[in-house]
Amino acid sequence: MSRPTRVTIDLAALRRNASTLRLQAGSRKVMAVVKADAYGHGAVDCAQTLSPLVDAFAVAFTEEALTLRSAGIDTPILVLQGPHTLEDLSVMSAASLWPALSSHHHLDWLSQKRCEFEQVWIKCDTGMHRLGFMPEEMPAIQARLSQLGVTETVLMSHFADAESSQSALTAKQLDRWRAVNEAGHGHNNQGSFSNSAATVGNIGPAETWVRLGYSLYGGSLIDAAHLSPLKPVMQFESRIASIRSIAAGESVGYGGRWVAERPTRIATIPVGYADGYPRSARNGTPLGSASGHIPLIGTVSMDMITADITDQASLNVGDRIVLWGSNPSVDTIARHCSTIGYELCTRITERVPRQFNPIGSDVD
Ligand SMILES: Cc1ncc(COP(=O)(O)O)c(C=O)c1O
Repeated sequence: MSRPTRVTIDLAALRRNASTLRLQAGSRKVMAVVKADAYGHGAVDCAQTLSPLVDAFAVAFTEEALTLRSAGIDTPILVLQGPHTLEDLSVMSAASLWPALSSHHHLDWLSQKRCEFEQVWIKCDTGMHRLGFMPEEMPAIQARLSQLGVTETVLMSHFADAESSQSALTAKQLDRWRAVNEAGHGHNNQGSFSNSAATVGNIGPAETWVRLGYSLYGGSLIDAAHLSPLKPVMQFESRIASIRSIAAGESVGYGGRWVAERPTRIATIPVGYADGYPRSARNGTPLGSASGHIPLIGTVSMDMITADITDQASLNVGDRIVLWGSNPSVDTIARHCSTIGYELCTRITERVPRQFNPIGSDVD
């Protein structure tokens, strides 16, 4: 590539994170969530790295699972959105996927097709209110599944606010979960509630499975990154392409929205919103350099960003700039853009080359 902008995926860090999280999960089985191309990290490479360390994968929809199957991954795969059509349910069965069933029409399709599934997950809506059967429906659902001859089932639900400690919504969801389980509708007592924040924050109920996505990739919605043993898997970086000096009073970038208050040295870096660096990044968003953090200034362009390097006299054309990864973290950048790291990782575009650091590069 002519341009020095790239993403590096550290598969050794991914493997270490999986081992750390496995310990945290204790006796619970670990399902690695690799939807959305493993949160932008490359689903096939990540799944190949993770398959010896996890018990199953989860994806959003069938095609994402079929990509993994075509790459030779035969670990169980849960399809979180469940079937979108009757035909989709047949495809899932043929590919030995596990469907997450969350609506009466899913059960109708199951009765029409009589598809074989090794395991079926049943989603209960404890408060997220996107998908799932309501808690009070669970006895009828259980009865219908038994009629259909479905025996291997896992009851699942999803936290809406696990990252906020003391969340009233989390308390409500846990109460409803407990009530469903105590009423004996927990389907052979197999259950799965915890996502990353619930697992790392240790707020999950007794359950069979945890479903881990963002934490595997080293991210955290809980603002304690400095305490986290998890390592960022994605490093998004570029190099300084050009340097100029401007006088006080001159502006930088589209709209002239940043104006120099002193004579200023500006570095231009060849990455922009067409690569997935968010246009919403505010003045002062940190960029990593060998001389420490430097502040983003001016509006993010399609292909370029600009930074104030007045106080870093040693920085030069060709020097490496970390957009996010080891330092600053993607979660730090997300806070400067009023979003979450999940969105930043999944929005890196195809024109950014992605290279994988192999597992053998693990030096710890
Ligand atoms: C149903 C479900 N379970 C688990 C996860 C994993 O969540 P996290 O990436 O926060 O661990 C997701 C992610 O959005 C999800 O939708």
